Amino acid sequence: MTDDLSQVRFPDGFVWGTATASYQIEGAVHEDGRLPSIWDTFSHTPGRTAGGDTGDVADDHYHRYPEDLSLLADLGVSHYRFSLAWPRIQPEGRGQLNGAGVDFYQRLVDGLLEYGIKPWVTLFHWDLPQTLEDAGGWPARDTAERFAEYAALIHQRLGDRVADWTTLNEPWCAAFLGYASGHHAPGRTDGAAAVRAAHHLLLGHGLAARALRAQGATSVGTTVNLYPVDPATPAEADQDAARRIDGLMNRMFLDPLLRGSYPADVLKDLAEVTGTDHVHDGDLAVISTPLDFLGVNYYSRHVVRAGTARPGQPSHWVGSEDVEFVKRPGVPVTEMGWEIDPDGLHETLTRVWREYGPLPLYVTENGAAFPDEVTGDGRVRDEDRRSYLERHFAAAHRAIADGVDLRGYFVWSLLDNFEWAHGYSKRFGIVHVDFETQRRTLKDSGRWFSEVTRANAL
Ligand code: FCB
Repeated sequence: MTDDLSQVRFPDGFVWGTATASYQIEGAVHEDGRLPSIWDTFSHTPGRTAGGDTGDVADDHYHRYPEDLSLLADLGVSHYRFSLAWPRIQPEGRGQLNGAGVDFYQRLVDGLLEYGIKPWVTLFHWDLPQTLEDAGGWPARDTAERFAEYAALIHQRLGDRVADWTTLNEPWCAAFLGYASGHHAPGRTDGAAAVRAAHHLLLGHGLAARALRAQGATSVGTTVNLYPVDPATPAEADQDAARRIDGLMNRMFLDPLLRGSYPADVLKDLAEVTGTDHVHDGDLAVISTPLDFLGVNYYSRHVVRAGTARPGQPSHWVGSEDVEFVKRPGVPVTEMGWEIDPDGLHETLTRVWREYGPLPLYVTENGAAFPDEVTGDGRVRDEDRRSYLERHFAAAHRAIADGVDLRGYFVWSLLDNFEWAHGYSKRFGIVHVDFETQRRTLKDSGRWFSEVTRANAL
């Protein structure tokens, strides 16, 4: 579908922001009482990340945040989405907070507010304190309780200045990449553990949401990563493959959060992998505590067909290891190999609205990696990224025109950063970072974005 971009004006008060995550940008992993997270351990394990890259220094944001705040101000954003490093704030994942860690976020929040930028906090973007992983990690129920305790304690310290609270970022990744395929920290390959992890992440979300509410928070939500899932052909087996992947990726999170139940077909598919003893009476009522908003991270679409499982190869598609992911010929991809599919964003937002709404939605992440270069004149001509963003903004706008209560949009990412298992090899920033010198350069996409935020239109 083509959009007449001259018509694309967003509703008054639309939130424009950029997003980052603590382990991807902060560095300073040994400073001011921070203890290791699962990502420190994982990235320091040989063979786990591209080039053996770690977040030890990353963007050195811990020290350079004043410069990053001024970049945010130049971008004209109303909000900044960032995550709190649990291992900085509560280094062992339990008990008293670490004052120096809390101070960092107080400085950051105060700095944002001085620029008139609203902080949008995520409590967990994957950097679980290693001590908690050693005690069982997310497959252990106690981690959900620990998460709620941490949420309540840090909210007591920042709640006077931070209005918007997101509990989790992408529980699917934390559970299935972390515990089933092991592509992410902690790198375990146990499908049953991953399913329990997913439940305890959701439970942790619900317990934390209730704790924040009890302390007066009025804008509490969570962020999931959603994909439209299509069958490669109309064949029954392919349609069933699409049902199963949609179940694991999307409905397994949306249904408990917004309907208070797990999808019956997914439970049936998973019955052989894992029982349901880990789901206690009352858990789903906690998980479905009403949300003030849902954050949607969108990057691409999955097209799938039934295939054959490859035994011995750990997969994050627990119980559906046979499913094959098809690349559609002729569809352009980003440097991640992800198909560029703006219509998929429209489809995702309208689906959530139709099947799970009404509920305020935010795009809490969308963006693209491309191989950028700083040219001799000090510019980064990332027309590919600008065009990617423009087409996705237009798709979001179409969802609004179709009645979806979409309230805002956060571009992933403010800065080039540590892209998890890909290390520094993939650049998602609208600001280029030279990882040798830490020099920041606003890319052309960033310049363009600063016009969009100011005009509130394309
Ligand atoms: C999302 C993550 C984010 C970043 C982008 C590219 O899954 O939430 O940290 O890695 O993908």
